[in-house]
Order: sequence, then C-alpha cells, then structure tokens
Amino acid sequence: MKKKPNYKLRRTVALIIIILIIVIPILIINRARISRIPVLHKYKEYKEIVKTLYTVDYSNDEVKSIMETLNKKKKMDEIRYDYISSLKEKGYSKDTIAYILINLSKTEMTKLLNKKYDKDLEEYIKIEDFDYDKYDRYIAYQKKYPKLKKEDIVLRIELKVDLDNYDDAEEEKNPDSLLAYVNKHRYINKDYEPDDLVEMDDKYSNNYYGVNRLRSEAYEHFKEMVDAANNEGIYFLADTTYRSFDTQETIYSNYAYEHTSEETSLYAARPGYSEHELGTAIDVSNVWYIEEGDEEYEWIKRNAWKYGYILRYKKGKEEITKYAAEDWHIRYVGVKTATLIHNKGITFDEYWYKYVRKDK
Ligand code: DAL
Ligand code: ZN
Repeated sequence: MKKKPNYKLRRTVALIIIILIIVIPILIINRARISRIPVLHKYKEYKEIVKTLYTVDYSNDEVKSIMETLNKKKKMDEIRYDYISSLKEKGYSKDTIAYILINLSKTEMTKLLNKKYDKDLEEYIKIEDFDYDKYDRYIAYQKKYPKLKKEDIVLRIELKVDLDNYDDAEEEKNPDSLLAYVNKHRYINKDYEPDDLVEMDDKYSNNYYGVNRLRSEAYEHFKEMVDAANNEGIYFLADTTYRSFDTQETIYSNYAYEHTSEETSLYAARPGYSEHELGTAIDVSNVWYIEEGDEEYEWIKRNAWKYGYILRYKKGKEEITKYAAEDWHIRYVGVKTATLIHNKGITFDEYWYKYVRKDK
C-alpha cells in the first residue's frame, strides 16, 4: 500500500525554507547597514571639517594636504569642524590654524580655544625649530629679554639656557669629533681619553707642573699659530690643555672649596662637562692667563681663527655659554669652522645647533 505523504512534515520544511529565504537577506542587509553606521557618521564629520577648511580660504590642494596629514597622524578623530571656525574667528591665520590642527593635541587645542588671540604664538609658529611643548619657556624667556628676536629665543631654549645648570643633560656620544660639544647640559663619558694625544714641547707649553698633552691636529695648528705670533713679537704658551675626568674633578672641587657656588659654576666645569677633557682646549698664558687688553689677547682675537682656534667663552655671550668670559680659553675646531664662527661672530653653541646637530 502506498504510504500517505506526510503533509505536516512537508509544510514545516517549506516554512523553514521560506523563512530562511526571507530572513537571511534581511539579516545580511541589516548587518551591512549596522556596520556602516559609524563609517557614515565619520564621513559626515569629515565632510564638515573639509567644508570648514574651505571657509578659512584654503585652496583645494591645501585642504587635501591638511586632510592627508591629519589622516597620516591619526588625528582626524581629535578635530571638530567648530575648532577650525573658532580659530578663524579668533583671528588666527590659515598657516597657524593648519599648524595647530596638525601638531597640537586635543587638550592643547581646547586650551587655546579658551584663551584670547595670541599674537606671539602666530609669530613663533613660523620659526623653523618651533616646538609647542616649549612654548611657555619661550614666553618666560621673552619676558626676561624682551628685545631678543623670537628666532634667538627659540634657539636659546633649544640650547637650554633657561634651565638650571646641568639639568636635562645629554651625553656627547662622539667625543672624538673635532666638533664635539660639551657645555652645562652636555657631557662626555668619564673614561674618555683621546687616542692621539701628544706631549707638547717646552717651546709651546708651560710644562712646569707636568708635560701638557693635546690632540695631534690641534697641536700642529697651535705650533703654527705660536710661530706666527712669535714672528710678530707676540709670545704666549699653552698653560693647561688636556685634562682627564679625574684631573677635572680635582680642579673643580678645589675651585668650589675656595669660591661661592655662583663663581664656581661661572668659571669651572663639572667633571665630564669640560672641553679640556676633549683634548682640544687650551688656556693660554704669558706668565699670567691672557686677558682683554693684553697684546697677546688682541693678537689671538685677530688671528686664532686662521689656525682653526676659536675663543670659546666670549664677553657678551655669557647668557649663551653660561660661563663668565674666559679670554684665555681657546678651542680647536678646524679652520673651516673657526672661520665661519669668527665671520658670523657667533658662539660655538649656536654654531653647533645650526650646523652640527644631527637630528635636524
Ligand atoms: N674653565 C672652563 C669652563 C672649564 O673648566 O672647562
Ligand atoms: Zn679653559
């Protein structure tokens, strides 16, 4: 006998198939919609940002480049279109607005929006090495030296002249370089000793307390300089040259014992922080350390650069070098650098920052 079809089962299966045919596409469509919601939302936000950028008078290319940079820096989510219009309303130029959008954090931006228009900021932002993190230091230094150009203020803050001595100190990792830079915020390893130190002849050096040593290239040029001076009837000798970390430590603590801490910091470098440890610095004397007004000093001032030497601690530059003027302290840097420093009338600190610093 033929089996009676099971209509109930067929109906159930058909119903399930119909449900699946209807429900699955609905689910798929909705899923796509649901996941698109934030994208659409962002798109709307970005559109507003782009629209507002045009109201600041940026060109197509400028808007494109700002958006690209913001995207690259993953800053899109930090920016709201009304920031842009508020900055414009406050009176900031379009260059400044672009800088602010690209470089300031959301918190910094909001802080700025709560303050009135800042003309100084507008000017500082144009300077190459401007760094917003140091902005408060620029303003504090500007208050102290209102006549200084803003470029010079930025440079001095980079040189850390506003910090306490020895604060935020960094190691000079290349002490062998003739352009190695040590100062109140840069030091060299305590075990460093140049491997080309040579003993100096009595004709060029006061060896009374022990034979002075200097790096060979610096010595060759010093000899030439002394010979040239002698030919013009000018006589001077190297009094102190290379010092080890330990020697500098002795000198420093003896000096500190006899002087106030202000005097000590103006005249003596902490061990590790002295140019004498580089083997390229010389304290020059003719019986006494030479000083402004001495004919030996005047000769050195006129001629040392030709032999690759600079006057490292000059009068009028104390605020930059952070040492009192030391007319007797010369430093070998090579003829090319010495000539540039002499012609521009700048300090080695400024030279180093503008021409040597590697992380530019
Ligand atoms: N007198 C200089 C600054 C030194 O101690 O290196
Ligand atoms: Zn010296």
